[in-house]
Amino acid sequence: MRDFMVRDESVKNSSHNTANTNVIWHHNKLLALNEGGQPVSLDINDLTQCQVYTFNQSFDRSMMAHPKIDPQTGELIFYSYFGPEFMYYVADYNGKIVHQEKINLPFQCLMHDFAITENFSIIPLFPLTWDYRRLMNGEAIFKWEPNLNTRFAIIPKHGKDQDVIWFEDEAMLGMHTVNAREIDGKIILEMIGMNDIPIDAIAFGDDRIIYTNSLIRWTFDLKDKSLTKEKLEQMNMEFPRIDERFIGRNYQHAFLNGTTNKELPHCFFDSIVHYNMKKNEKRVHYFGDDALAVEPIFVPRTKNSNEGDGYILSYVYRKSLNRSDLVILDAKHVDDSPVAIIQLPHRVPFGFHGCWVNNE
Ligand SMILES: [Fe+2]
Repeated sequence: MRDFMVRDESVKNSSHNTANTNVIWHHNKLLALNEGGQPVSLDINDLTQCQVYTFNQSFDRSMMAHPKIDPQTGELIFYSYFGPEFMYYVADYNGKIVHQEKINLPFQCLMHDFAITENFSIIPLFPLTWDYRRLMNGEAIFKWEPNLNTRFAIIPKHGKDQDVIWFEDEAMLGMHTVNAREIDGKIILEMIGMNDIPIDAIAFGDDRIIYTNSLIRWTFDLKDKSLTKEKLEQMNMEFPRIDERFIGRNYQHAFLNGTTNKELPHCFFDSIVHYNMKKNEKRVHYFGDDALAVEPIFVPRTKNSNEGDGYILSYVYRKSLNRSDLVILDAKHVDDSPVAIIQLPHRVPFGFHGCWVNNE
């Protein structure tokens, strides 16, 4: 694990912010994000040009790496949590911050991702707590504290701290949401979770320990404040993406990385999975023992095509050749042969997240 207190001489005077976790496109800005740093805007025509982005001098905090764009209103919904306060934001279609609220949390923890519906934001809090003061004692910044349980903050989209509806469930850990939606007074959240973590786990303290993922669905009843949880799929999967025209809406198609080869460490993925949330069925494209795939990005076939009608893009690393391909699959038939393979002469380093920006 990297020691946060030590900086190499060569980068001593440069920014801490690697902005290396995700890129999003909103109000004609390409923003590179890392949850521990401020957003960085990139010139889409010249990616060497970048600068810290402040939403017109109205934002000077760290910004989470997984903001959500409401497909109907164009609002950008996000939060900032690497600091003493948790701040929740909504920016309008033009990138003007129109709502901000300090939310009081029961504990500080890794809050990598959240989900929205038409009217709510759903923020999971897993008991992987962080505290900078631990560094002073030579301890890791993160600590697994399962006695705190898992919490969910459900906030009306433009709500205040006092409007938050809190839910509590047994301890588990998750990084990425798939999507959420509202149905009959209930909120349904699907995300990838690890729920077999031993009580004495040293989370993030030992990279050799890998906990397998599963696809989980929570249903929150806003009337009687109850929740249910069900495991939908056992296959090791991560990096879920959807047709983003259906963020927060009734949807059925999810696209994920998956691990077919049981010998492969679970932090590596050799497959692309199409999971149908309504039918609870999956289709798998296995790239073979020699290949590793990264996050699948969905691109609609046309602006108005039906949900899930489009293409999946993923960089696939060919181990024996030490180079990568950009592989394009038919999103609803990922198990078919690729639509196209663009052979690259070099390796594309593994990263986290990306986005598709069309030329319109
Ligand atoms: Fe992420």
